[in-house]
Amino acid sequence: MAASTPPSWTTGTVPNSFAALPAGRLGTLGGQLMRLLNRAQQREIAQLLGPLDGLDVLEVGPGPGVLLGMLARTARHVTGVEPSREMRALAIRAHAGAIAAHRLDVRAGDAAATGLPDAAVDLVVSVNTVAIWPDLDAGVAELRRVLRPDGRLVLSWHGGERPARTARALVLREELLHRIEDALRARFRDVRRTLTRRCTVFEARDTAG
Ligand SMILES: C[S@@+](CC[C@H](N)C(=O)[O-])C[C@H]1O[C@@H](n2cnc3c(N)ncnc32)[C@H](O)[C@@H]1O
Repeated sequence: MAASTPPSWTTGTVPNSFAALPAGRLGTLGGQLMRLLNRAQQREIAQLLGPLDGLDVLEVGPGPGVLLGMLARTARHVTGVEPSREMRALAIRAHAGAIAAHRLDVRAGDAAATGLPDAAVDLVVSVNTVAIWPDLDAGVAELRRVLRPDGRLVLSWHGGERPARTARALVLREELLHRIEDALRARFRDVRRTLTRRCTVFEARDTAG
């Protein structure tokens, strides 16, 4: 991992190269494990999002791309923005058909620098990345920028009603969950926190819905 990788806002330490910001062979192995261990969470989030017919969607930090595939089933177009070269490679390999059909695209970037133009998408979703970002406010500001005026931002982190045993150590304390809500409230009118079985989910939009 590059020595210049900034620390995350939750821990003050540089993200590990296994699962947080996967790099090298260990990162590829981490991505393959994530594909299995986090699949149930991606299903819960896909269900919470509902049908995405006609929508342009951005997923931030898709890792190996499990949720990308679920989103692409109904969305008009899905973009995955992912800082890890190894994760981009796994996601591209998993979705070669949808990429060739121009329904999906995976590119380099991160939460604070997606590379998308203003008001480009109807929905931004990110699962298990928000606590890893170096700068919470910079990430929220960027995701607000790329959303259309009536768009929806959905951020999910390990938690929920019954966190998986493997994820219990990652559950965020209440003070950090409040900081996520505060950062969202600074930029969106309507912010809600909900729990699925394994995920703590923040939904933000400008219009009640
Ligand atoms: C724990 S993995 C989660 C992957 C996938 N979303 C899942 O739930 O299985 C964290 C992912 O976030 C990406 N990531 C790390 N820092 C990021 C940042 N600042 N912005 C966006 N994504 C980031 C990592 O490269 C990795 O793919």
